[in-house]
Amino acid sequence: MNTAQNSSTRQPPSFQEAKNARQKSRSAGLDPDRWYAVEYDKAVKKGQIVEVTFWNTSIALYRGEDGQLAATQNRCPHRQLKLTHGAVEGCNIRCAYHGWAFNRDGWLTDYSHDSFGKALLKKQLQTYPVAVRYGLIWIFPGDAAKAEQVALPTIPELEGDNPWASVTADFTWKSHHSMVIDNICDFAHAFLHRKYQPFIDAKLKHYESDENRVFLSYDTFVGGGKISGMFVDRNRINTRSIDLCYEYPYQWSDTGGKIKHWCFVLPIDERKTRAFFVFYFDAFKIPMTSLATPNWLTQAILWIATPLLLKPILAQDGIALEAEQEGYDQYWDVPPIELNPVVPLFQQLTANKWEAYLQSLEKQPVVVEG
Ligand code: FES
Ligand SMILES: [Fe+2]
Repeated sequence: MNTAQNSSTRQPPSFQEAKNARQKSRSAGLDPDRWYAVEYDKAVKKGQIVEVTFWNTSIALYRGEDGQLAATQNRCPHRQLKLTHGAVEGCNIRCAYHGWAFNRDGWLTDYSHDSFGKALLKKQLQTYPVAVRYGLIWIFPGDAAKAEQVALPTIPELEGDNPWASVTADFTWKSHHSMVIDNICDFAHAFLHRKYQPFIDAKLKHYESDENRVFLSYDTFVGGGKISGMFVDRNRINTRSIDLCYEYPYQWSDTGGKIKHWCFVLPIDERKTRAFFVFYFDAFKIPMTSLATPNWLTQAILWIATPLLLKPILAQDGIALEAEQEGYDQYWDVPPIELNPVVPLFQQLTANKWEAYLQSLEKQPVVVEG
């Protein structure tokens, strides 16, 4: 039996078993002591509960009748039901089964059933810091005491009185988050997008990395599609190169200082990732003129381009990523062939950060519950 056949009957290695940076990155989580985009702000209405998952941890995200969001462990301490089966009452969340209610800080506030004469138990759910920025809800799934010291991503172009036109698209892909980062930073896959041609003929020009990021630049032709190309203002914007960065745990790109995006990944589990892409544009060109589009028109074009261009391009990435995950699950021990020198750097960064996080857990004092 050869190695490949053999591997089909075995699971990919765990982080501790992994033999190299690629295998480590494919089993690594993302540091929970960061802010993660988990949902659109508008997707959680008053009185609504939504389940979100960060690296196999289910979280009940809900909005009280006062409009404020809260996030708690998604498990009733009574019989371990998911609280997402329950309901919001005022600013509390009430379990569907026996009706125990918990306030926003996680404290049990009442039983709905007869309590058999028992005083209210002193029970508190784990809660998570929540924030809203750029139309997204962010959760800090790690040590809540650190949340204030860790900055949410800042996009100056979307702040102030005249924010750039922007659009957010999200995808849930059955692939590991490290594959998503490899994909969106590695421009060797222009062939996949040959129909839309978002980038052509990419040549890696420069790269550098440190313990927090991998920065890279390609010489490439950006926005080469027939229709999309008509809207790109090549006199005003340098579309011959693009900067990208894996700014752990996020990713961004910048074309000529005028066309930009951030990607915020939510690692759901070892084989599932939700990615929120925030695209923002300074302006387009009005076709057949040299005029820049005003902000409202830039926004309208973006809304039209999202289903026609942005989403179909990223959907191609999703198909490739899910196929890559299937391939990895079967052939994880086949030595990788990697032509792009930055891809191993992304993987190393992901692996190093996870290693550091796991080591930090080992140093924590063991709490003995009374
Ligand atoms: S299981 Fe939640 S109140 Fe009983
Ligand atoms: Fe792509």
